[in-house]
Amino acid sequence: MKLFGIIGNPVKHSLSPVMQNEAFKYLNIDACYLKFKVEEAKLGYAILGAESLGFSGLNVTVPHKEKALKYVEPDELAGEIGTVNTIYFKRGVKGFNTDAMGAKMALEGVTDIKGKRILIFGAGGASKAISYELSRYSEVLIANRTFSKGLKLANKIGGEAIRLDDIFREIKSVDILINATTVGLNEDRSLIYSKNLHKDMVVFDIVYSPLKTCLLKEAEKAGAKTIDGLKMLVHQGAASFEIWTGVKAPVKVMERAVRHAVERG
Ligand code: ATR
Repeated sequence: MKLFGIIGNPVKHSLSPVMQNEAFKYLNIDACYLKFKVEEAKLGYAILGAESLGFSGLNVTVPHKEKALKYVEPDELAGEIGTVNTIYFKRGVKGFNTDAMGAKMALEGVTDIKGKRILIFGAGGASKAISYELSRYSEVLIANRTFSKGLKLANKIGGEAIRLDDIFREIKSVDILINATTVGLNEDRSLIYSKNLHKDMVVFDIVYSPLKTCLLKEAEKAGAKTIDGLKMLVHQGAASFEIWTGVKAPVKVMERAVRHAVERG
């Protein structure tokens, strides 16, 4: 049996085990995916220990995605973004970032992403991965609470940084809005409300607790298309699955599994 797992802290509420185990079962792959709470000081032992124990792969989640870089050979994308969310133990310890691909796939489910004007809230780990990927196809604007961080990221990806106060002026010409901050996570609050949104835009929130965030409710009110955070979770997980198995991931099966898990609470 092949062994996989997710390391993070906290990791109790991770939906990755449900999603990956369902995919393994569906494709008759003899594998098991578990979750492990790992303290920051023990991160290196956890990664290299998993390799010694014969694990096939790991996912890495908050708060270890940046520090994990130290223990892996990153591929070009993970090295460039500076964060790792997938490890594959094959001829060494290989590191990947599938968050970027996850966001792209989630968006492509409802819209074409080429040549668009995309506004991204946030300049943290999630935003780095998403903005790096999307800037390859589109014009990206970064609006971050701490402007200097937003500016640094915008410069890196060849985008533009704006202040949070200026989003209301820019929003009219935005095709896609992405919330990559933690605003809205277990709270009924948003950085922008329906009166400033418009029906010709796609609004994507990477927060999935609650599933319908305040931002997504406001976007619906404005008549915009919405994408919830589970889509990104599923697509980043599908991309990890494909790295580990070399087999096309059963995306619909994985999505059904996580939606059921969320509905069950
Ligand atoms: P992640 O890895 O999920 O991206 P992170 O690296 O901690 O998490 O980044 C969180 C992001 O949410 C940051 O862009 C943060 O803005 P700052 O860079 O100014 O800290 C943003 N954020 C968190 N709380 C916020 C709030 N109340 N208002 C606006 N932005 C907020």
